[in-house]
Order: sequence, then structure tokens, then C-alpha cells
Amino acid sequence: MFKNILVPTDGSDMALHAAKIARAIAEKFGSNVTLVHIVQNYYALPAFSMPDTVAIPLSVMQDLETTGKAILAKTEEIFAGFPGNLTTKLEYGPPGKQLVDLVIEDGYSLVIMGRRGLSGVTGLLLGSVSNHLVHYAPCPVLIIKGNEKLD
Ligand SMILES: Nc1ncnc2c1ncn2[C@@H]1O[C@H](COP(=O)(O)OP(=O)(O)O)[C@@H](O)[C@H]1O
Ligand SMILES: [Mg+2]
Repeated sequence: MFKNILVPTDGSDMALHAAKIARAIAEKFGSNVTLVHIVQNYYALPAFSMPDTVAIPLSVMQDLETTGKAILAKTEEIFAGFPGNLTTKLEYGPPGKQLVDLVIEDGYSLVIMGRRGLSGVTGLLLGSVSNHLVHYAPCPVLIIKGNEKLD
């Protein structure tokens, strides 16, 4: 059970906390773990696909890519000495949709992620990415809230 676990990370405290719990669960079940960060592909947003708008300079995309790699490296630190298989992935596009596509294409059996992330918008129960996964992922999604009692 839970052969392949997907751990989406945006580098936020909650995502890192979720990664710690993912590690514990993966060790119990002998799971393979994939850490993934989705770099927002701004060309995919309607405003940026309008023919008369200025394209995002390549340097901006490269910055986002560098940040994405740093986020993955930071999350990977939590898995130092992890006895199972650990893979990291950097993907591009709208995070919610990309993550669901990845779950479907690569056949993950469990997603473990944070409830909220970096946006800092308070008052919402779930962030937009976690909300998307709960609704559309075809596998169980474990949402880590950050303040739960874990016995
Ligand atoms: N770009 C991303 N790539 C991978 N995982 C992400 C990304 N953004 C958010 N996540 C995951 O989704 C969780 C919830 O974040 P999100 O839904 O974006 O909330 P918020 O609206 O507060 O930013 C994070 O804790 C993280 O696990
Ligand atoms: Mg977010």
C-alpha cells in the first residue's frame, strides 16, 4: 500500500512539515517518494497569452527555476538518510493542474501536502493548490494542517 507517494512542495513551513510526515509514513510502508515543485508558467495565464502583451523575459523564468531548485533542495534535506527511493521533479505550469496530471500519468497512490502555502491569504480553509488536489486527484490526498496532534 502507498507504493509511490507524491509530496508537492512550495518551500513553505507547512509544506516542509508535510514532508516530515511523508517521510515517516514512507518509512512505515516502504514507499518510494517523489518531491515535486511546480514553477508557475506565467505564459499559461490568460493575461500573458494575449498577443499584445509583453512576454516575460527569459531571465525571470530562469530566476523562478533557480528558486524552484532551491525549494526542492530544502525539502530534500528532510529526507537525509532516507532508506527508500527518493526522486525530485521540477515541472512547469499551473500548479494544481500539473500536479493532478502527474498523479494520473505516473500513477501515485498517495499525495501528502500542506493545507496552505506561501500566498499568505488568510481566512481560507484550503489554499488553491491543495483545494484543487482534494477535488481532482484520483488518489487519497493527505492534507497536513500543521497544528494537529500526531500521536
Ligand atoms: N508551486 C507548487 N509546487 C508544488 N507544491 C505546491 C506549490 N504550491 C503549493 N504547493 C503545495 O500545496 C500546499 C498548499 O498551498 P496552496 O494551496 O498554494 O496555499 P496558499 O494559497 O496558502 O499558497 C503547500 O503546502 C504545498 O504542499
Ligand atoms: Mg500557494
